[in-house]
Amino acid sequence: MTHTYAKLDWTDDGQPLSKSHGDVYFSRASGLDETRHVFLTGNSLPARWQNAPAFTIAETGFGTGLNFLAAWQLWQQTASPEQRLNFISVEKFPLTPEDMAKALALWPELGTWTRPLLEAYPALLAGMPMVHNNVTLRVDFTDTASALPSWTSPVDAWFLDGFAPAKNPDMWTNDLFTNMARLTPCGGTFATFTAAGVVRRGLQNAGFDVHKVRGFGHKRDMLTGQRT
Ligand SMILES: C[S@@+](CC[C@H](N)C(=O)[O-])C[C@H]1O[C@@H](n2cnc3c(N)ncnc32)[C@H](O)[C@@H]1O
Repeated sequence: MTHTYAKLDWTDDGQPLSKSHGDVYFSRASGLDETRHVFLTGNSLPARWQNAPAFTIAETGFGTGLNFLAAWQLWQQTASPEQRLNFISVEKFPLTPEDMAKALALWPELGTWTRPLLEAYPALLAGMPMVHNNVTLRVDFTDTASALPSWTSPVDAWFLDGFAPAKNPDMWTNDLFTNMARLTPCGGTFATFTAAGVVRRGLQNAGFDVHKVRGFGHKRDMLTGQRT
C-alpha cells in the first residue's frame, strides 16, 4: 500500500501543523483537553457505553491518533473487560511513524496507550487492524468520500474531526452526512469541533437532531447531536 504522507510544520512548542491545509491538528491550548471536551463529553462518553456489550466509534481524520488514545484511556478506565470497543477511522494523509511518535510525545499521560499504538502503526499502515485486549482499531487510509460508502458496521458515536470546513470542504460533504445517517441507529450520536452552517444543515437534512453547544477554549460553539 502506498501512502501520501502528511507534510508537517512544527511549532516551537512541538505541535504539528498541516502544511497542505494550513490548519492545526488540535487546539494549541491543549489538544487532549479539547478531545475530551469535544469528542468524549460531546458524545456523552462514558455514559453511553455503560452496559453496552460492544460499542463502535467512527472518526473522520485519524491524524496523530490523539482522539483514539483519549477514547481508549477512558474506555479502559470505565468499561468492563467483557465489553468490546471498535474504533474505525479514515485518513487520507497519514503521519509517518516518526512524525506520529513526535506528536504523541506531547502527551506523557497517554504513554500506556501510545506505546502499543506506535508498535502497531506500521501494520495499520499496511492495512491490518490493531487488536489489543478488548479494543480493535481499524484505519482506512484513503479519502473519506471513498471509504464511507463501503462501511457496514453500525456506528454508536461519531468523532467528526477533518480540518475546518472552510479549509477542507471535500471532507464535509452531503455524502458524508448521508452515509453517517445510513450507519447510525436511532439514538447514535456525533460531536464535532465546528459549528459551521454547512455542517449543521447537512446533518439536520440527513436525519440528525443538531445542538449548538459551548466549544473548547476560544471557540464559542461546536455541534453535537443524535440520530432521530
Ligand atoms: C484535525 S486533523 C485530525 C486530528 C486527529 N483526529 C487527531 O486525533 O490527531 C484532520 C485530519 O483529516 C485528514 N484529512 C483531510 N482531508 C481528508 C479526506 N478528504 N479524507 C480523509 N482524511 C482527510 C487530515 O490528513 C488530518 O489528519
